[in-house]
Amino acid sequence: MTLSKFRLDGKVAIVTGGSRGIGKAIAIGLADAGAHVVLASRKLAGLEEAAREISRRSGVRVLPIAAHMGRMDDVKALVEHTEREMGRLDVLVNNAAANPFYGPIQKMEESIFDKIIAVNLKGVLYLSIYAADAMEKNGGGSIINMASVQAFRPEQGLGMYSVTKAGLVMMTRVLSKEWGPRGIRVNAIAPGLVQTHFSEALWKNEKFLSQRLGRTALGRMAQPEEIAAAAVFLASEASSYMTGATMLADGGSLNG
Ligand SMILES: NC(=O)c1ccc[n+]([C@@H]2O[C@H](COP(=O)([O-])OP(=O)(O)OC[C@H]3O[C@@H](n4cnc5c(N)ncnc54)[C@H](OP(=O)(O)O)[C@@H]3O)[C@@H](O)[C@H]2O)c1
Repeated sequence: MTLSKFRLDGKVAIVTGGSRGIGKAIAIGLADAGAHVVLASRKLAGLEEAAREISRRSGVRVLPIAAHMGRMDDVKALVEHTEREMGRLDVLVNNAAANPFYGPIQKMEESIFDKIIAVNLKGVLYLSIYAADAMEKNGGGSIINMASVQAFRPEQGLGMYSVTKAGLVMMTRVLSKEWGPRGIRVNAIAPGLVQTHFSEALWKNEKFLSQRLGRTALGRMAQPEEIAAAAVFLASEASSYMTGATMLADGGSLNG
């Protein structure tokens, strides 16, 4: 086994939510391993900035595409645009997610339920379906879903988010079973608390943070870069016998 198994030279990857945070760190990791990368999120300006930074650093092609993961037309167009511009698709990282509500689940309005399901589950499923068709043309590929430790241990106030992440873990298992024969591997990563814009309300809340770190074996939050290597591994031939799995990267918080 050599490190060359981790290389992704000539491969094409889509990373949703690639303009910042964990998605951007993963895009940097994939580009450093040699992959050309398509960055997708809602706002083009942030994507363009990240794309310039990553291509300058790694010398690969980085294409920014604006797409809302809760809009199925955008989801379909993202794969079509990628195939047209990059010629192929090998890796999909379903990283974008929404958490539009914090509080007791009975106070959550129906429109919020629809939004969180659309972005965190429906968009992921349909993007995976279109991506799998594109990957099959080149003999297969790898899909990586960004779950969360919340899938296994719900946090007060984040109930519906946890439901969608648990759904994503099962979606990973279902798709891996159905698509293994097509040469498509589907795995997930479940991070603990990572210091990003998304989790700002949590880590800026001193009471929450000290409680959370108190039951985290490593006693600290993660930085986005600490999640990226798991995605490079799952994207590459180094993980060729892994499918349907969820890798925990939670600093030990599930056991606390
Ligand atoms: N941070 C944590 O503690 C933590 C822990 C466990 C799991 N996660 C998961 O990790 C993933 C990334 O989170 P993060 O912490 O890196 O967040 P982040 O830094 O806030 O980045 C979120 C990214 O997603 C994009 N995005 C948001 N809504 C979108 C939508 N509807 N369609 C397309 N793109 C969208 C954002 O760009 P635009 O604004 O341009 O759309 C941005 O690029 C999420 O799946 C999250 O659930 C995070």
